[in-house]
Amino acid sequence: MSYLEVIGGRRLQGGIRIQGSKNAALPILSAAVLHSGVTVLKNCPKIIDVKNMLEILRDFGCRVDWEGDVLIIDASGMHGGAARKQYARKMRSSIMLLGSLLGRVGSACLPYPGGCVIGERPIDLHLAALRQMGARVEEGDEGLLAVCESPKGAEVVLPFPSVGATENVILLSVLSEGITVLDNAAREPEIEELCRFLNSMGACIRGGGSSRIVIAGVEKLHDTEFTIGPDRIVAGTYMLLTAAAGGRVFLEAAPAGQLKGVLNLLGRMGVCAEERKDGLWIGRSGRICSPGTVQTEPYPGFPTDLQSPLMAVLAGAEGESRIRETIFEARFKIVEDLKRMGADICTKGQEAVIRGREMLHGETLAAQELRGGAALVLAAAAAEGSSRIRGLSYIERGYENIVRDLQALGVVVNLREENEKDAVYERTWEKPERKI
Ligand code: UD1
Repeated sequence: MSYLEVIGGRRLQGGIRIQGSKNAALPILSAAVLHSGVTVLKNCPKIIDVKNMLEILRDFGCRVDWEGDVLIIDASGMHGGAARKQYARKMRSSIMLLGSLLGRVGSACLPYPGGCVIGERPIDLHLAALRQMGARVEEGDEGLLAVCESPKGAEVVLPFPSVGATENVILLSVLSEGITVLDNAAREPEIEELCRFLNSMGACIRGGGSSRIVIAGVEKLHDTEFTIGPDRIVAGTYMLLTAAAGGRVFLEAAPAGQLKGVLNLLGRMGVCAEERKDGLWIGRSGRICSPGTVQTEPYPGFPTDLQSPLMAVLAGAEGESRIRETIFEARFKIVEDLKRMGADICTKGQEAVIRGREMLHGETLAAQELRGGAALVLAAAAAEGSSRIRGLSYIERGYENIVRDLQALGVVVNLREENEKDAVYERTWEKPERKI
């Protein structure tokens, strides 16, 4: 089994290019099957979640090929079929196929989605909205069986701006008859990107990125070529890494416009940011100070995906901070590991109180989920001494090559094998290769 070894306490220096966005790529891959033809995607991140999604697309008869860094999906041979549980259960985004399968072939047979263990992740809002558009969905022990012979536009109001439910409604509406008006839609940038992608293949969607989205159904779509934008959560992770470890780094292509709230918060904590046309410089020299209370919220509020990385930073900040997690109820999974590193954190329900310590110390740690895993890496990079982080497979769900990136930012980190003394990290996406 492999683990990361991080020797902490070194100031950062260097730069990386921010990878393509996971939360944009996954719904876009679902959307590609709406068209009986070819979609060419550039800058699609080579992460495990994308790999699993492509396996599911193959289950439904799509041809999927990589030509270098360009992904080509040919969905002309698409059929109703069923997805293999082993892939669908590994990620939340498999639920996104519900809207697009119903739109394209009129039926869907999907195992329940999996994903990170960050609390209950119900799909009731997805199902209620799709039913409003004419879908009949049965929830069995094994998964979902849905049929929708002739999807109709509808007026849908989401009780909560769920990202996933917004995407599913958009996906089913594209080829529906009539007009769909979706109110209280999620406003995440990835929704706007999904709409831009669909419009590039002939859909007629207005208002993506706002809380009212209007979709006029079209009869068919056409081939398209699209470039996926940079990942704001990955950029945010490395911004927070710099806040934790200190130093100065350049994040090429970081989408500063999507990270205004995070940049504001970092400014209050004593981090300097300099926006350039091609990216973002981030630097921190003195000790970081507490920003007071931070609450996670739907976009444009502070993203739940950066809550654990922020906690890792605040564990070493001056003063007392509070974090309120309002999106998922089990997203404080790193607290015990941080406490073993010397952090002073108390949690009560959805609130964590963090009294910053000057320096944490290295420990043996275990990632339990994607963003929490990245947060442990961050804590280890800022701590004194050496840490061992197990559970790399969780981190690889969303970070293309975290070791390569960390090394390029000046972190002393290596991939090691249990029982192997000196395995040096050098990997490819398909099959990790290690030089001994
Ligand atoms: C959420 C985040 C998104 C993040 C993603 C991955 C928000 C608003 N959404 O998206 O930014 O990238 O996780 O970590 O921060 N809910 C229901 N019923 C449903 C659907 C959702 O009750 O049918 C609830 C969830 O339990 C959760 C909240 O709504 O409390 C947000 O869910 P949603 O936005 O759908 O989650 P994701 O799409 O996974």
